[in-house]
Amino acid sequence: STTGQDFKVADLSLAAFGRKEITLAEHEMPGLMAIRKEYAAQQPLAGARVTGSLHMTVQTAVLIETLVALGAEVRWASCNIFSTQDHAAAAIAVGPEGTPENPQGVPVFAWKGETLDEYWWCTEQALTWPNTATGGPNMILDDGGDATLLVHKGVEYEKAGAAPAVDTAESDEHRVILELLNRTLRESPQKWTQLASAIRGVTEETTTGVHRLYEMQQAGSLLFPAINVNDAVTKSKFDNKYGCRHSLIDGINRATDVLIGGKTALVCGYGDVGKGCAESLRGQGARVLITEVDPICALQAVMDGYQVVTLDDVVETIDIFVTTTGNKDIIMASDMAKMKHQAIVGNIGHFDNEIDMAGLAKIDGIVKDEVKPQVHTWTWPDGKTIIVLSEGRLLNLGNATGHPSFVMSNSFADQTIAQIELFTKPESYPTDVYVLPKHLDEKVARLHLDALGARLTTLRPEQASYIGVPVEGPYKPDHYRY
Ligand code: NAI
Repeated sequence: STTGQDFKVADLSLAAFGRKEITLAEHEMPGLMAIRKEYAAQQPLAGARVTGSLHMTVQTAVLIETLVALGAEVRWASCNIFSTQDHAAAAIAVGPEGTPENPQGVPVFAWKGETLDEYWWCTEQALTWPNTATGGPNMILDDGGDATLLVHKGVEYEKAGAAPAVDTAESDEHRVILELLNRTLRESPQKWTQLASAIRGVTEETTTGVHRLYEMQQAGSLLFPAINVNDAVTKSKFDNKYGCRHSLIDGINRATDVLIGGKTALVCGYGDVGKGCAESLRGQGARVLITEVDPICALQAVMDGYQVVTLDDVVETIDIFVTTTGNKDIIMASDMAKMKHQAIVGNIGHFDNEIDMAGLAKIDGIVKDEVKPQVHTWTWPDGKTIIVLSEGRLLNLGNATGHPSFVMSNSFADQTIAQIELFTKPESYPTDVYVLPKHLDEKVARLHLDALGARLTTLRPEQASYIGVPVEGPYKPDHYRY
């Protein structure tokens, strides 16, 4: 149902390789495949025009093809300049029935190593639907909230009649967004307002994007309902934790091949991502230290056997630094100046502002050199060098291939169910931010047990009434924390 030439990827000849990896991934994504089967006849997403902004990986390809199998039309961009797997993007553009000469897949705008200008152009392309009344999607599937942000900023500036002038003192990213919106204001002054009016809702993948949504909800500026997919238990307690347990170490290994055993590693933040990262480094035999601001998470870290420190106290002694906070300014240039020779510095939080890359570049006499794409040395005039991964952007997707399929099957089953909820029951979701109802969360977990040979015990009716839950669940009250 989508036109062939309306896409931009690195290299269509990679499609066959991409298709083979998609086929392997499908077997490892039992949740998504079960949902395809369950809804094949019903087509709950028929009529949905889904704009996705989420890392264009092999796993995401299986998500996209699930949405299509449920009836949706889809346009896609990646949510990070380094996270696209070019063979996955090619396979999605070509489609299962097409060939590189005759692509018949989904319009996808994503390649590994975009500039910031290209990144936001891709996001705009994914949000711009040719041949539709409103020119846009009626659903957004977001990771980090950039697609949602562009629509909201666009509407805000259209109401005001102008976007702020571009301030060169602001970050590059800010400049690029303002330039884009100044252009759309000139060319099509109601573009975003018109487009937003058709959007039934957004389903948001990650902690940082969810944070943005609650801010808009509290400010009263949220334009359409949102489902916070991140806080489904089967998302944040699995993807953020076990996904990072796998992909953090994968990224460090592919980037540096340094032996992690015996090294001292500092994980900044002990939330869901930090917990997975700490375990992954410890699994390799590193001595792991933690920084935290939250006393509860700090106490958890201590109970798990990690030493809790401040960055200041240990910065000279650490071999591997990993930021996982979703906060900004965690490792500053002045910290990096104190690091030991060949310390490795990487971030796995959503945005690149955890590490002060701008400050690093401004150090007098410092020299940046590329070892290979997404691995750079920064050398001070006295010869001291540090190794920075993915220019401070999330290293598990920049230096490796992100989380493996099985864990993403949970996250993306949550995403798909959230899309079906918002698209098919708009009357149940007035503009606000929601989490998935618990029975759907439990359903997603259930879909993944058989594949791992797990056998669930069934409650006997008298046991169910003794603890006060239905035999078929939900088994826990909403305030239970897992
Ligand atoms: P979280 O909120 O569970 O954990 C973050 C932790 O950092 C909190 O415990 C907080 O107290 C702590 N923190 C905040 N400021 C700090 C500071 N200045 N120093 C030390 N600790 C500080 O969030 P979660 O789910 O762990 O996500 C963290 C980030 O990772 C988010 O940006 C999220 O979007 C991203 N993420 C990335 C993934 C990836 O594959 N790269 C996967 C999932 C999430």
